[in-house]
Amino acid sequence: MRFALHGARVVLRDWRDSDLTPFAVLNADSEVRRYFPSVLTQTESNANADHFREHADREGFTFWAVEVPGVADFIGFTGLLRTPYAAHFTPCVEIGWRLAREYWGRGYATEAAKLALEYGFQQLQLDKIVAITTPDNLPSQSVMTRIGMARDLSGDFDHPNVPAYHPLRRHVLYHIHRARR
Ligand SMILES: CC(C)(COP(=O)(O)OP(=O)(O)OC[C@H]1O[C@@H](n2cnc3c(N)ncnc32)[C@H](O)[C@@H]1OP(=O)(O)O)[C@@H](O)C(=O)NCCC(=O)NCCS
Repeated sequence: MRFALHGARVVLRDWRDSDLTPFAVLNADSEVRRYFPSVLTQTESNANADHFREHADREGFTFWAVEVPGVADFIGFTGLLRTPYAAHFTPCVEIGWRLAREYWGRGYATEAAKLALEYGFQQLQLDKIVAITTPDNLPSQSVMTRIGMARDLSGDFDHPNVPAYHPLRRHVLYHIHRARR
């Protein structure tokens, strides 16, 4: 059965092969990848999408493809993922988003994130959802705040997948609890 979550403007849905090219384009954009250690090659971008598809098959949720009917078949991803590394707050489920630059500044990420959050709490019955990013990534932290997440001020950590001494290694941690909303 195909998966789709419908909002007023956005749809979170299963990945399609036709998403791979626009996904590679956004992953090759240095502005989109500003708070990551590097842009991605097409092969690396495809591997990202494969990971999200496998996660959907295994868990029933993932970083879903985002579509805006009437505007674009694919603008990026938003969704929920089991955090794939060990840190002081894992195991846990994190919420995340990445949109192509031409779709920033329209509220799509926040609308998509609210859908994913509600799915996590109501369908998956998660007790807690976290989000992470670099301290300077204020657009991403604004999405976190807009969907009701709060920063864990004692939660900062060094991302284990970012090389030691890399300037983007430090991350901040946000969280939201089902029972405290
Ligand atoms: C993080 C990211 C998704 C945020 O995108 P964004 O466009 O700032 O967030 P939204 O889609 O929620 O849009 C919110 C903005 O749209 C504006 N907006 C315009 N029309 C709107 C509408 N109809 N409804 C709601 N907001 C609207 C809001 O005012 C807000 O603008 P502001 O930030 O100037 O106040 C985007 O910067 C991105 O993809 N970055 C690269 C990847 C990345 O860093 N991901 C996170 C890694 S942790």
